[in-house]
Amino acid sequence: MKKKLNILFIASECAPYAKTGGLSDVVSALPIALTNLGHNVKIVIPKYSSIDTKKINMKKILLPMCVHMGNCEEWCSVYSTQHNKNVTIYFIEYEKYFNRDGLYHDSKMNDFIDNPKRFALLSNAAFQLCKDINYKPDVIHSHDWQSALSMIYLKEWYEDDPYFKNTIGALTIHNIGYQGKYPYENFGYLGFSDRLFNPNILEDFGDINFLKGGIHYADIVNTVSPKYAEETKTEEYSHGMHTFLIDKKDKYFGILNGIDYEQWNPDIDKLIPYNYDENNISEKSKCKLFLQEKINLKKDENIPIIGIISRFASQKGLNVLASVIEKVVMDIKVQFAILGSGDKSLENYFQSLTLKYSGKIGAFIGYDNQLAHQIEAGVDFFIMPSLYEPCGLNQIYSLKYGTLPIVRATGGLDDTIEQYNENTGDGTGFKFNDLTPQAIYDTIGWAVSTFYDRKKHFQKMRKTAMKKNFSWKQSAEKYVDAYKKALEGNKNIS
Ligand code: ADP
Ligand code: GLC
Repeated sequence: MKKKLNILFIASECAPYAKTGGLSDVVSALPIALTNLGHNVKIVIPKYSSIDTKKINMKKILLPMCVHMGNCEEWCSVYSTQHNKNVTIYFIEYEKYFNRDGLYHDSKMNDFIDNPKRFALLSNAAFQLCKDINYKPDVIHSHDWQSALSMIYLKEWYEDDPYFKNTIGALTIHNIGYQGKYPYENFGYLGFSDRLFNPNILEDFGDINFLKGGIHYADIVNTVSPKYAEETKTEEYSHGMHTFLIDKKDKYFGILNGIDYEQWNPDIDKLIPYNYDENNISEKSKCKLFLQEKINLKKDENIPIIGIISRFASQKGLNVLASVIEKVVMDIKVQFAILGSGDKSLENYFQSLTLKYSGKIGAFIGYDNQLAHQIEAGVDFFIMPSLYEPCGLNQIYSLKYGTLPIVRATGGLDDTIEQYNENTGDGTGFKFNDLTPQAIYDTIGWAVSTFYDRKKHFQKMRKTAMKKNFSWKQSAEKYVDAYKKALEGNKNIS
């Protein structure tokens, strides 16, 4: 077995160029961690018009690149830049598809109608790119439905191509709630034989399901935490995919995401006003006072603050929190610092609370990376009442910032947070099982009473949390093991 693998990441997002959520953090950090283990990784994403080409020193490298789709040829260009000193990132330019505001939907949150074509092109263009830059991948690693079709192109189109003969396909599911389901009328563009449009492969009640097809063809499929891997094998969590995942047997598993500690570390974070670590945690109080001032909360370091940084999507359980938040701030001496955007009614509701509970609830509706860092540093608790959570990154950032997570025990939240033990003061956070207003209310009450009444425990938990290590190195090693097992195995599974 070759020691040094060539690995191509195909994805729709990669921070800092294009980001809507944690997927982009993973696509940005995991290639660097794999490179640090000695592998040769490249990334390919679309060239969205929102990417500031000058700021990142992006250069056009290929003049017209022809990508054959099912019923036409598309002429693209390719740009590239160094993502870090060892990882090159490529951007596929195709103006008709990617030169518009928004990654997946317009400002009114309407999905772009040509999304199936946009991401089929990305998934297929990556193969032509490999040939044009003379890069022979051992592994094609796709992420979520947006690049899942690469798994099919690999096995159906390139199976006999000497260039990809020994290449295996790996698919990571970051969120099974989004599968890329589209009308059959798009099938011709994809270029697959009709044989694939059956309920065991691509068909889903008359539509095409990109993720389902990817799962079928991938040599290995993983999701981003062991618990979510188990949950998605059940009807309750799988959004219809459980039988297909169960069928993958040991080719479906969970690998916990890591954290980029160069970006998320209060000791060196340039986006927060005061740096600190577990030995000089008093500086965290200064971050708290700074945050209180910044988002119009009453300045008082003795009042605990609960942070929220999130997409406002049904997955996050914030509608249930919203139904109890007023009771919480009326009954309990606590403040909230809220940052997020998405669902318009939640945006309006949280915004309205800043007036109704002025000094107690501060909210910024929108996307603001610096404020996200300042919230992590300035608050005492971080709440994620998710309905489901494949991994979740913010609760892991919180640990490093000495901010104790209050989470529903699901998916990656359950895997990364250890329950508080009231007898010993062990643990790193506060977990509850049922997504109900009462459970949220009670668990916030439990956390806050620890802050006020069991100060020693609170301080001990903070230290324990800050010492936890969720570095990418350990996750990257698991990915390499999985790639190698798949390379050793039989790749003809279709
Ligand atoms: P998901 O990918 O489901 O949204 P994660 O917890 O994995 O959830 O990742 C969310 C990422 O997006 C984190 O890096 C978080 O800081 C960031 N994020 C989410 N909403 C905002 C926002 N409004 N402003 C800044 N960062 C945000
Ligand atoms: C998804 C999930 C989130 C996970 C992220 C990165 O967006 O919702 O839980 O952390 O992907 O894998």
